[in-house]
Amino acid sequence: MSTRKGIILAGGTGSRLHPITIGVSKQLLPIYDKPMIFYPLSVLMLAGIREIAVITTPQDQAQFQRTLGDGSQWGLALHYIEQPSPDGLAQAYLLAQDFLDGAPSAMVLGDNIFFGHGLPGQLAAADAITTGGTVFGYRVNDPERYGVVDFAPDGTVRSIVEKPEVAPSPYAVTGLYFLDDTASERARAVTPSPRGELEITSLLESYLADGLLTVQQMGRGYAWLDTGTHASLLDAGNFVRTLSERQGQQVGCPEEIAFQQGWITETQLEARADLFSKTDYGRYLKGLIKP
Ligand code: G1P
Repeated sequence: MSTRKGIILAGGTGSRLHPITIGVSKQLLPIYDKPMIFYPLSVLMLAGIREIAVITTPQDQAQFQRTLGDGSQWGLALHYIEQPSPDGLAQAYLLAQDFLDGAPSAMVLGDNIFFGHGLPGQLAAADAITTGGTVFGYRVNDPERYGVVDFAPDGTVRSIVEKPEVAPSPYAVTGLYFLDDTASERARAVTPSPRGELEITSLLESYLADGLLTVQQMGRGYAWLDTGTHASLLDAGNFVRTLSERQGQQVGCPEEIAFQQGWITETQLEARADLFSKTDYGRYLKGLIKP
């Protein structure tokens, strides 16, 4: 069990996915058989985190609450925080300051989907670093769209640059941030970038300047999927479908993780299975219960 508290940042206007996201928040869109936010939620759960704040726009909060409830069905305690205007990722640490109440955290972006056999181990390694921060570098074809790691010739991290015109490396920083208990304090010192946002990269730079930032590589055996365009959204859904149908195992299933972690009982799992009895998802949950 981690001592960290979790944050899922699920605000934003979703303008790059219009017109789909006019009526519904991006992070509630389907990735094959479940809402997008189930995947980042599963990552926090795999990291052993049970107290989680979901940050949304004020107008979308009710829909998130309807989808996720209070979290007790997964043995979690979910809190909801409004982000009145999308002023950058680092703002999450200001909005969540009272919720964190001095605890270290793991924040995941509500549209980030991770898949990889070694993920629990990698999360545990990041969780174990209690002073400073850990982020994950992932090789991509289009690093300019992300925060990018700039490595010095000796392989140490020189800086992290947000959406550079020319990327200093192919390694994007994924939307998963393990930060210590100084994150909110450091976020207060971040000033808006030229595009008017409190950039997560500025917050990470603060850790880097103190020699307190670890960049873990997520290697080629991992999938870190993009959901930022219509095509990549569909690709992500197809990826999940292909994998789960082939293996007969779910990807990003909160009930399964909660059950494995011992956070819910067989009876609770069965209640969820019954709720979804008309779907393969429900039948899968039923199958997790030993006869
Ligand atoms: C944000 C961050 C960026 C990070 C990315 C990961 O960008 O600013 O550093 O690499 O998330 O998904 P956004 O996708 O919000 O533009």
